[in-house]
Amino acid sequence: MEQAKLDAADSDNFFEFENKGELAEMLAQDVADTLYSFIEENGNVTIAVSGGSTPAPFFAALAKIDLDFSKITILMVDERWVDVRHADSSERLLHEAFAGLPINIFSLAPKANEDVMAGAERLNKALQNINIDIAILGMGDDGHTASLFPNHAALKEGLNPNSSHNCIAITDSPKPPSQRVSLTYAKIMQARQLILHITGESKKGVLERALHIKNQAELPISAFLQQSETPIYIYYA
Ligand code: 6PG
Repeated sequence: MEQAKLDAADSDNFFEFENKGELAEMLAQDVADTLYSFIEENGNVTIAVSGGSTPAPFFAALAKIDLDFSKITILMVDERWVDVRHADSSERLLHEAFAGLPINIFSLAPKANEDVMAGAERLNKALQNINIDIAILGMGDDGHTASLFPNHAALKEGLNPNSSHNCIAITDSPKPPSQRVSLTYAKIMQARQLILHITGESKKGVLERALHIKNQAELPISAFLQQSETPIYIYYA
């Protein structure tokens, strides 16, 4: 593993890998170590993860590790408001990657015929009972993370560090599909360990900007990068 120094990133928190495969393997191993120790400490552990294309090899690598999956609860940091069998469902990635393992999936997916506003309200309450230990975030080229999109009206609650909301509805996402639910910054920041998992030169450029930007709403990931409450480890290839 090679450590590289970003312009303003704390080099201790930035890990760069040769390629996406090596990145996924090492991330899985490091996360597994944390899962082991949290299980040892508390008897169980909850991990929140991102959708998109980046995490698939990480999920596959994690599923191969010898862990007591029955003690692990996993949830998405955001979900596209489609049935879990739909091709766009993020949760579907979890069912595929962890098939046959006794992992507990806390679902953010819609109930039959449930609209996204009602769903976000239901999940907002249900998430009161979920304590996130580890959060692994992704990032889009526009600096969004989870479904917290740049300059979006939903950021009023979505990025408010004192928000009482665990979950918000998005009805006009700039990234399709338009309807989504997202955990809020306040909820994600419950995590004791934060990781950002990104690949590609262009995302590294966005990361550099997000480390310095003054208006966090322009690049929502910046809120996580600039806070000093919980260190965020960046895994990059
Ligand atoms: C989604 C997620 C989104 C995702 C990032 C990164 O709907 O896909 O809400 O936040 O994690 O856009 O996606 P990629 O890994 O595909 O670049």
